Amino acid sequence: MSAFNIVLLPGDGVGPEVTAQARAALEAVGKRFGHTFAFASHHIGGVAIDETGEPLPAETLEACQAADAVFLGAVGGPKWDLAPKRPEQGLLGIRKALGLYANIRPTLMHKPLLDHSPLKREIVEGVDMLVFRELTGGSYFGEKKQSATEASDLCLYTVGEIERIARKAFAAARARRNKVSSVDKANVMATSRLWRETVIRVHKAEFSDVELEHVLIDSMTMHVLRNPRAYDVIVTENMFGDILTDELSALGGSLGLGASASLGDAGPGIFEPVHGSAPDIAGRDLANPIGAVLSAAMLLRHGLKLNAEADALDEAVANALESGARTRDLGGELGCTQMGAAILAHI
Ligand code: NAD
Ligand code: IPM
Ligand code: MN
Repeated sequence: MSAFNIVLLPGDGVGPEVTAQARAALEAVGKRFGHTFAFASHHIGGVAIDETGEPLPAETLEACQAADAVFLGAVGGPKWDLAPKRPEQGLLGIRKALGLYANIRPTLMHKPLLDHSPLKREIVEGVDMLVFRELTGGSYFGEKKQSATEASDLCLYTVGEIERIARKAFAAARARRNKVSSVDKANVMATSRLWRETVIRVHKAEFSDVELEHVLIDSMTMHVLRNPRAYDVIVTENMFGDILTDELSALGGSLGLGASASLGDAGPGIFEPVHGSAPDIAGRDLANPIGAVLSAAMLLRHGLKLNAEADALDEAVANALESGARTRDLGGELGCTQMGAAILAHI
């Protein structure tokens, strides 16, 4: 039996709705396995701007730094879209402050949802990909300039930033099907040419037993739809990974299914669904909590090193889907709370 401190950052829109279900799932797993999870909620994003004027208040950052793991719902919404400070700055700020350069986003096909995929069953059956998205570099964090007539976002990568995410991807591939697809735009971007050279060098020096291929991002968005089973581990830069993983989460039938872990070399990670604040359905108990609950399972596995507990939560989601529980995005009738309860029934 162990005790852990978990910080919850529910955020905006559907963030608090899915965070409540992730928390309930963690509590149920704690009860079953005899762990104590102490939860503390803090503001981030739009709600933090409303409360304090800042998207990432100092007390939120301090609480996260002292936690064993952090769970985040979602940030953003139309209310703050034209504001001088944006909710998204809070999320980017905390990823940077905690050094979370490796964002891991799995794409798995849940068997009971095979016929709900927008793609044919014979294309998606057996798909199992793991995307390593670089999370603290690139155009997200380079210098930004904007005047009335022009604007720029500097896209900058250092060799060190590329090496460390490449190593994570190669190491993960060794424990899977031993293949890495590195995705870039080396035909146009200097950062992508440095990316490709660096990945090749790390591969040759440390991981030559792993199969490596390079794919341009534009054709990759097509390949993952035509033949998704061909891919195992994918490694790519920040913006390409953002776009590709929303596309991949839809293979299973809904953006509401995608889970992620954002990790650094030390200190707490952040575990967050891939989807955003979903303003079009927020406040109506309609969100699918599965991406959040599976992110809670990643928190158990990667954040707290509780593998059996993480397996139990993954299985509870699989069993709830097997029993026919579906939210509206998956063609069902259940609300967020009811779907959460359907998962809890299997823990
Ligand atoms: P979104 O992911 O919020 O929503 C896109 C579509 O997917 C919407 O139709 C939404 O209803 C649906 N959807 C999303 N999550 C769902 C769920 N759990 N269940 C059922 N349906 C779901 O993306 P968007 O509309 O482009 O962005 C809205 C806001 O969210 C923006 O302010 C954006 O910056 C922010 N955002 C935040 C995060 C994050 O906090 N990690 C991620 C992405 C977008
Ligand atoms: C995500 C989101 C964020 C990103 C935004 C909200 C800053 O889209 O987590 O995928 O672009 O990283
Ligand atoms: Mn995104």
